[in-house]
Amino acid sequence: MRNFNAIITGVGGYIPEAILTNDDITKLVDTSDEWITTRTGIKERHILKGEHVGASFMGIKAVEELLRKTNTKPEDVDVVICSTTTPDYIFPSTASIIAEQCGIKNAFAYDLTAACSGFIYGLVNGAMYIESGRYKKVIMVSTEKMSSITNYEDRTTCPLFGDGAAAVMLEPSTEPLGLIDSVLRTDGSGFPYLQIKAGGSVNAATHQTIANREHFVYQEGQQVFKAAVSKLVEASEEMRTRNHLSPEDITWVVPHQANMRIIDSVTRYMNIPMERVLVNVQKYGNTSSASIPICLWEFENKLKKGDVLIMSAFGAGFTWGSVYLKWAY
Ligand code: ACO
Repeated sequence: MRNFNAIITGVGGYIPEAILTNDDITKLVDTSDEWITTRTGIKERHILKGEHVGASFMGIKAVEELLRKTNTKPEDVDVVICSTTTPDYIFPSTASIIAEQCGIKNAFAYDLTAACSGFIYGLVNGAMYIESGRYKKVIMVSTEKMSSITNYEDRTTCPLFGDGAAAVMLEPSTEPLGLIDSVLRTDGSGFPYLQIKAGGSVNAATHQTIANREHFVYQEGQQVFKAAVSKLVEASEEMRTRNHLSPEDITWVVPHQANMRIIDSVTRYMNIPMERVLVNVQKYGNTSSASIPICLWEFENKLKKGDVLIMSAFGAGFTWGSVYLKWAY
């Protein structure tokens, strides 16, 4: 029994202006709008343009909006967790840059890496600070400049990804709302199928790694697809069984927006009709860990106090999981 539940009290977000359509991609690689649409459901994605702007640029905008919407003074924030696969730098953390630029002076801030599962891992992480009773305001911000690690000469990956950011505020409540349960898992044997081969400490950058284009996403799509569907179904089933949730009890499924076919397969298995699934992958593509909070931000006006949300994600590692949350406002 907890004294405090961790509830989400607001959402902020930011999507960069520039749009890269499927037609634009056909000018870069040998593909077609029809191929991309039928295989992924994606029609366009937004790209952060400009020199010397990274993931923090979008994260700062999302957190600034969040502070405004929740009437929070920056100095009252206790913790900033940032999930990102595309940090500004190897160090310092993108979270520390965001906190500094947003005037958050009395908090500790750090990055969390779990690829596309970063938001749900971080949400559970942040909720534990609130549940402990020691912290009152935790910001979980997810920001991804996927265009910086996308190889626009590789037709198998370049249609998939887009840029964006969103952030949520976690605060304590004694009402039976907020984060109720979570199933989080990691299986490191997924490493060969989804990775960036160079730029880390094993294969530091050289002329050769750059010439081989090893600083971009490498993916074996079919292996990732199969693992994503089976693990997402497994996690959602475990969550549903142990919380005695029938499909009718679930108001909204909020899936990681990787690919319409993955979303379709998983929600069909869960027996949830599409009108109760939040989807915007057609507009933004896969924004990695930012995709779930961007959905919460975009569809915030549909959500009502007490709504049951199941948020599920799968990503490199492999990492995956499912979070059961009751919306609090
Ligand atoms: N346009 C035209 N043809 C293409 C393209 C393209 N953009 N990309 C690949 N092809 C071709 C391939 O070359 C191949 O041709 P071949 O048969 O002559 O060799 C053919 O299409 C089939 O290729 P597959 O890789 O088998 O295509 P598949 O049906 O598996 O679709 C896709 C590829 C969309 C990447 C799919 O595997 C997928 O969705 N995987 C999940 C990946 C994902 O979402 N990853 C994101 C990160 S992890 C996550 O967020 C869950």
